[in-house]
Amino acid sequence: MASTDFNDRTLSLGLARVSEAAALASAALIGRGDEKAADQAAVNAMREQLNKLDIAGVVVIGEGERDEAPMLFIGEKVGSGKGPGVDIALDPLEGTTLTAKDMPNALTVIAMGPRGSMLHAPDVYMDKLAVGPGFRNGVVTMDMSPSERVSALATAKGCSTQDITVCVLERPRHEEMIEQLRSTGAAIRLITDGDVAGVMHCAEAATTGIDMYMGSGGAPEGVLAAAALKCMGGQMFGKLLFRNDDERARATKAGITNFDRVYTRDDMVTSDVIFAATGVTDGSLLHGIKREPGFLTAETILMRSKTGSVRRMSYRNPIQA
Ligand code: FBP
Repeated sequence: MASTDFNDRTLSLGLARVSEAAALASAALIGRGDEKAADQAAVNAMREQLNKLDIAGVVVIGEGERDEAPMLFIGEKVGSGKGPGVDIALDPLEGTTLTAKDMPNALTVIAMGPRGSMLHAPDVYMDKLAVGPGFRNGVVTMDMSPSERVSALATAKGCSTQDITVCVLERPRHEEMIEQLRSTGAAIRLITDGDVAGVMHCAEAATTGIDMYMGSGGAPEGVLAAAALKCMGGQMFGKLLFRNDDERARATKAGITNFDRVYTRDDMVTSDVIFAATGVTDGSLLHGIKREPGFLTAETILMRSKTGSVRRMSYRNPIQA
């Protein structure tokens, strides 16, 4: 294989290091009430580690547009420039508030694929719907109402609607949807932030207790979640939501022409990718950073969509004096 091919197997361990480094760097800021400092520490560490990889990488989902993010901005070139051309989607700290408040499920997240493998989602909202693996295609759809989705999933699972748990971001904009979901008898796991983890939870329903994710959140986080589900299995749909002309202009700049399109998981992530996430605070998928005298321990999930392999790795790192 030429050194310029996307060798996902070899690159994956490097990707895990990038995500670990970001989580370890934010460790000292867990529960310190300073979201910005926690994010900045993760960004710096992620960028430094990424630049050690032998890739010619371009950030396609990053910290923001070039004029608003000094580092890991969309379009930034990362890596040594010597290896394969790759696209990178990242969120150095998914759940800045969760970290600052020491609340569950803050993660560092990164996905990598060949050039052109991921949707260049603008920084707007996305309406999201996800379920885990094992269901027929289209078991739930964006066209269905929230209560129809619960009924359809319950029928497919062979259970009552009361046995379904839906994960939703707790936001005023979701009040009506929550009311509809409640009318079915389904349980709702409300989260205050972190919908990448929310979607990923559907792929391991037996462990997390979550069957379905729905509601709107960041579009960049939507693409990251689609990359995770492509590796773990499961279905996801996303529709970009625009609140004004500025947001439509952002989408146009990102190359989007059809503003009403419903993207499937594989529309958002079109070829095989690798994905790594490290727990910052404890969660139902990953342990958060554990402190012991002299050491920090981080848990990372590392996955390849080509093989469907899901690895969990624990990394004990001596604290540098
Ligand atoms: P940050 O880590 O950047 O703060 O994002 C957290 C998050 O909860 C995402 O997981 C989610 O997609 C988005 O914010 C939701 O946006 P909003 O807070 O505007 O509803």
